[in-house]
Amino acid sequence: MTDLVRYTKNGDVGVITIENPPVNALSPGVPEGIDEAIQAIAKDPEVKAAVLIGGGKTFIAGADIKEFVKLTSGTRQNDIGILPFLLKIEDSTKPVVVAIHGNALGGGLEVAQACHYRVASADARVGQPEVNLGIIPGAGGTQRLPRLVGVEKAIEMCTTGKPVKASEAVQFGLIDRIIDGDLLAGAVAFAREVAGKPTRKTRERTEKLGNAEQNAPVFAAARESARKKYRGMICQLAAIDAIEAATKLPFEKGCEEEARLFYQCLYSDQSKAQIHAFFAEREVSKIPDVPKDTPTIPVNSVAIVGAGTMGGGIAMVCANAGIPVVIKDTDQAALDHGLATIQKNYATSVKRGRFTQQYVDERLKLIKTTLNYADFANADMVIEAAFENMALKKEIFAELDRACKRGAIISSNTSTLNIDEIAAVTSRPEAVIGMHFFSPANVMRLLEVVRGRKTGKDVIATCMQLSKKLGKVGVLVGNCRGFVGNRMFLPYIREAQFLVEEGATPEQVDKALVDWGMAMGPLAVGDLGGLDIAYRIRKEFRHLEKPGARQPFVEDRLVEMGRLGQKTGSGWYKYDGERRASSDPEIASLVKKWNAESGIPQRQISPEEIVDREIYIMVNEGARILEEGFALRAGDIDTIYVNGYGFPAYRGGPMWYADTVGLKKVYDRISEFHRQHGALWEPAPLLKKLADSGKKFADYERDSARAAD
Ligand code: 3HC
Repeated sequence: MTDLVRYTKNGDVGVITIENPPVNALSPGVPEGIDEAIQAIAKDPEVKAAVLIGGGKTFIAGADIKEFVKLTSGTRQNDIGILPFLLKIEDSTKPVVVAIHGNALGGGLEVAQACHYRVASADARVGQPEVNLGIIPGAGGTQRLPRLVGVEKAIEMCTTGKPVKASEAVQFGLIDRIIDGDLLAGAVAFAREVAGKPTRKTRERTEKLGNAEQNAPVFAAARESARKKYRGMICQLAAIDAIEAATKLPFEKGCEEEARLFYQCLYSDQSKAQIHAFFAEREVSKIPDVPKDTPTIPVNSVAIVGAGTMGGGIAMVCANAGIPVVIKDTDQAALDHGLATIQKNYATSVKRGRFTQQYVDERLKLIKTTLNYADFANADMVIEAAFENMALKKEIFAELDRACKRGAIISSNTSTLNIDEIAAVTSRPEAVIGMHFFSPANVMRLLEVVRGRKTGKDVIATCMQLSKKLGKVGVLVGNCRGFVGNRMFLPYIREAQFLVEEGATPEQVDKALVDWGMAMGPLAVGDLGGLDIAYRIRKEFRHLEKPGARQPFVEDRLVEMGRLGQKTGSGWYKYDGERRASSDPEIASLVKKWNAESGIPQRQISPEEIVDREIYIMVNEGARILEEGFALRAGDIDTIYVNGYGFPAYRGGPMWYADTVGLKKVYDRISEFHRQHGALWEPAPLLKKLADSGKKFADYERDSARAAD
C-alpha cells in the first residue's frame, strides 16, 4: 500500500484505512493505495468482504483541492483521475462496506457511493459541497447519487452543497445502517453479514431514476429556482444538467458529460474565485507572531454589557456554543426587553425548524441577566456591546477594570472606536481587544478581532480560537477607523450617494450592484441598517475628512426629514408593513430638486460605471489598508467581504476581483476617476506600485503588519 493507506485483516474481513490527515483528502497516493488494497483483497481467498474507513477524525472530506489549483494554474498536467478507481471498487466481487464517521464530502461521498454498502455513525455528515468551490461532483457523484437517492434529493444535495446527517441520510437510502458505538467493529460485523452475497453495482441501478415525463417538471423547477437563488452562478445549473444526463444517458456517457461540465466549471473564473475564498478563509487563522502553539485562556463563561440588539445576538451566539452568559444593562426594563427579543428570535428558529424546543430551552437556561457588575467577577471574558460612544465606553471599561478578575479578557464590540483609547482607561491594556460582531450577530459569520497596540498574544490566540467555537470566521485586523470592513464600506456607501447626486436613480445604483452579484444594493443596505447610523458616524468624524473633499448631501437631508430607512417605513425606498421595498416617487422628485439646486451636472450613468466606481473605491481603500498593515493579507480582506458584506464568493472578494481584472487596468480606471472626481479618488501608492510591476495583491507580503505587531 502507499503511505497514505493502511491495509490490515480482521479474520475474513479486509480493513482499508485511509491515513491522510487532517481530513483524509483524496491526495495523490490515496486512490492508488485503496486500489492496491482492493486488488490484494481480490487475490486473498481468506478474505470474504472489505471495510473502507478513515483514520483519525473523519472519513474522506473530498478530492484534494490543492490539486485543482495546480491543474488550473498549469503546474499539474494530468487530470485528477478518481473515476477509474471507483469502477474498480464497484467491480469487486467481494462486498466493500464503507464506514463513515466525521465527514464524507465531495469525492469522499463519491467513493462511498461506489462501495456496495454504506454504514455510518449517527452524527457523521455526508454531502456534495462542490458548488461551494464553484464546481460540480466530478467523480461520478451526479450519476451515482440520483441512482441511490432519487433525482430530487440528488439535485438538492448537489445544488445547495449542504451536508446532511447520516441519521437523516438513512431515511432516503444513502446510508444502509447507523452504527452505535464502535464504528469499525460494527462495520466489520456488517461486512460478515453480507459476505458471500452477490454485490450490486450502484451504476447499474436505475429504479430511482424516474422517467422523462416525471423528471421534466422536476428539472424545470430546479433550474428556475437555481437561477433565482444562485443569481449569476454557473455551477448549480451545471450540476442540474449533469444529473439530467444521468437520467437520459447510459452511465459511461453520463460520466463523460459530468466530466465535461466539471472541467468547464473548474476552469471558470467563478471556481477560481471560490477556491481562493475557501483557502483565504482558512489562512486567516495563521498569524505570523501568534503561532498555533500560543497558550490560550479557557473561556467557560462570558459576561455581556448591553441587552440591545447586538448584546442579545452575541448572547445567543455564546449560548449556542454551550457557553453560559450573563447580560448586564442599566435598568430592568432594558433587560426584560432584551431577553424577550432573544426568546422571540429563538421561537422563530423553532418555527422554521432550525432548532428544536428542547435545544432552545437548554440555551435559554445558559442566559442570565443582572443589573450589577459584581456578577462579572468570575467571567472569563467580557464583551461590551453598549451604545457606540467613546465617553460611555471609557466609563464602562473603568468599571470593568474594577469588577473583572485578573486574567479575564475584556473586549469591545465597537465598530468604529479606537481600541487603544478604550484600553488606556484600564490598568490592563494587554487584556483588551475588539470583538466586532456583525448584525444580526447570531446570523452573520464574520467577526473582526481587533488588535490593540498592547493586546496580549494569548488574548489574540484565545479570541481567534473562540471565534471558531462560536461558529464565526474570525479575522484579525489592526486598530484603524472602521477597522477593515467598515473602513472600505464607508467610501462604497458614499460613492453610491455621489452617483445619485450625479443623476443615477437609487434603483439604478442598487440594481447595477445586485446584477453584478452583491447580495443587496448599497442604498438598500443603508435603509436596512438605519440611515441615522451612517449619519452619526459622518458627523462625528467629519473633522477627519480631507479638507475640501466632496461631501454627499442627499442622505443627510433624508435623515433630517426623519426618513431613517426601514424602521421608519421610508428612506431611499418606501416600505410596507412587511418591510417590502418599493420605489418612492417622493424621493425621485426630492432628489431631482436637490440635485438641480446643487448645480452638479446631471447625466445618464451606465451600470458598468456604477459597478466600477463602487467596487474600485473599495479596492483603493483596501490597498491602503494592506499597505498600512491593518490587514495581514489581501485574502483576509476578501474573507471579510465575502462573509460580512454580501460580496459574491464567486468573485472571490474585492482584492481577488481586482487581481482578476488586472491591477494595471484597475489603476488606470481609478486614475481616470481621480481626474474626474478629485481627491477622494487619489490612487493608493501600493496599487500603483503593484500595477507598475505587473504584480497582484495576492503576491503582496509586507515585512510586518499592524494586525501582527
Ligand atoms: N482538500 C485539501 N485540503 C483540505 C480539504 C480538501 N478537500 N479540506 C480541508 N482541507 C485542509 C484545509 O485547507 C486546512 O488546511 P490548513 O490546516 O493547512 O489550513 C485543513 O484541511 C483543515 O481544514 P479546516 O480548517 O476547514 O477544518 P475543519 O475541521 O474546520 O473542517 C471540513 C473540516 C468540514 C472537512 C472542511 O475542511 C471542509 O469543508 N473541507 C472542504 C470539503 C469539500 O469541499 N470537499 C469537496 C472537495 S471537491 C471534490 O471532492 C471534487 C470531487 O467531486 C471530484
